[in-house]
Amino acid sequence: MCDRDPAKSLLIWYDSNSRTLPWRVPPAESKQGKQPDPYFVWLSEIMLQQTTVAAVIAYYNKFTMRWPTVADLASARDEDVMAEWAGLGYYARARNLLKCARSVVDECGGTFPAHRDGLLKLPGIGPYTAAAIASIAFGQSETVVDGNVERVVSRLFNIDEPLPTSKPRLTKLATSITPASRAGDYAQAMMDLGATICTPRNPKCEVCPIANGCQALAAGTAAELPKKVPKQTKPTRVGVAYIAQREDGAFLLEQRATKGLLGGMLGWPGSEWAENQPEHEPPFPADWNEVKGIAKHTFTHFHLLLTVKTATAAQGHNPTIGHFVPLAEFDREALPTVMRKAFDLAQGNA
Ligand code: ADE
Repeated sequence: MCDRDPAKSLLIWYDSNSRTLPWRVPPAESKQGKQPDPYFVWLSEIMLQQTTVAAVIAYYNKFTMRWPTVADLASARDEDVMAEWAGLGYYARARNLLKCARSVVDECGGTFPAHRDGLLKLPGIGPYTAAAIASIAFGQSETVVDGNVERVVSRLFNIDEPLPTSKPRLTKLATSITPASRAGDYAQAMMDLGATICTPRNPKCEVCPIANGCQALAAGTAAELPKKVPKQTKPTRVGVAYIAQREDGAFLLEQRATKGLLGGMLGWPGSEWAENQPEHEPPFPADWNEVKGIAKHTFTHFHLLLTVKTATAAQGHNPTIGHFVPLAEFDREALPTVMRKAFDLAQGNA
């Protein structure tokens, strides 16, 4: 039998199977008309881009404790926000987060626009986030299309065409089954279905609430979909990080340029990262010792193999690159992950 209204079956399933997450209003309350604070929805959606739910929860809780409203976040110091974001990765998101919070305060009177078009004008908000906020926080019938939704829809309609070519078609199909009411619950139900049942490998079709309408299940192709155009393999780059410690324990750190990778974050001075070891100088002449081992990190577009060198600087040393951060103020947690890996290697904790 073909399920003509997968949204209805999915919402019934969501009513008793939704994941409990700190930014969510549970379905029993959302059905009574309760809507989550758009600030919480926006913050969680930005954090959840490219980062797992499990990793986001602690960051989300810390951010909302420290900055409970969008106005609080808008008036935060850039360095404080970047330090709280450290470890979440994709640091352009944190810079856009601040820009967006400030636009909401300065240009929208401190409240998020309630419609997709208004949301799309804000920094860092694209079609995905605009649809997520419009549907989850404002109950608008907008279609949220993320990787989970693409997978569910490609299976539901047995779409053989590979991603990313199939994206426009999947978006149209996803739109065609979005319900007029409870669109926010529906969007989150799709996410939960994709995360727990309609998983990339070994989908649990036997417990799927929309299995009877699933064309891929009927055709025996569910586990193979969505097909993907093969990805180019990632290149490997190499670089050197210099960890200098002054006699009083202070570390030499550098605020990276705002534009580019890890823009605005704290890091160890070092070489450029390139496929062949670039010509470079250490931050100051000293007896630099190469640490045994390599700090490895993978970014979106490349793998990085980072050699780490350490040295001691004299107490009166006046750096021309970076600044010494006193040991009492040094916070390993405020470093982006790659810099933390270099630090741990130098400390013998990698
Ligand atoms: N991934 C992206 N947005 C999400 C949400 N609101 N709930 C669970 N997972 C998500």
